[in-house]
Amino acid sequence: MSLHLGRNEFGDPANKGNVLTRDEALQLFHSWVLNPKLQVHMQQVGHLMKCWAAEKENLDETGQWKWEMAGLLHDADWDQWPDLHCKKIIEELEQRNIDPEIIRAIASHGHLHFGVEPVSQMDKMLYAFDELSGLIHAYSLMRPGGYEGMDVKGVKKRLKEKSFAANVSRDDIQDACERAGIALDDLIAFIIPRQATVISVS
Ligand SMILES: [Fe+2]
Repeated sequence: MSLHLGRNEFGDPANKGNVLTRDEALQLFHSWVLNPKLQVHMQQVGHLMKCWAAEKENLDETGQWKWEMAGLLHDADWDQWPDLHCKKIIEELEQRNIDPEIIRAIASHGHLHFGVEPVSQMDKMLYAFDELSGLIHAYSLMRPGGYEGMDVKGVKKRLKEKSFAANVSRDDIQDACERAGIALDDLIAFIIPRQATVISVS
């Protein structure tokens, strides 16, 4: 099965600035994503994207929401339509005339699978957060204190253990850090305290 999207252009440039409201996005999120674990993952990635946009890109609330929306919806079709991942969510957002930057970020979050290169910083950060966020959350679930006291060293140890969260691609994490121009240690240190605040579905 190939998930290659077979194209490189997404959305209509005329739709720049168009976003879903938070209520609309959550409505889509809850009607498409039924798996609570996947919901937490998507919310965590959404939150990390928002934090990055605010703290590192100095974007205003509108810009932050664009980044958050891309993270919140990036796996929206994975739960019910894995064969159509991420074609279905892209088409949905195109039909709703959403900003192409958001759609492109979603389309490039797994460039080896979808055949779309991450180009913008939003593309690259979504790609970078996706796998690493999942591994860090898996680590928190096996620690008695969860995120409490978790440090970069511990996460790197888990990364080296190939059997731990074996479905998380170490190659993708490495590649994502290089593309985003961020040291792995810095990315881990960014994720831990911020992700710790998003542990349940709301
Ligand atoms: Fe994901």
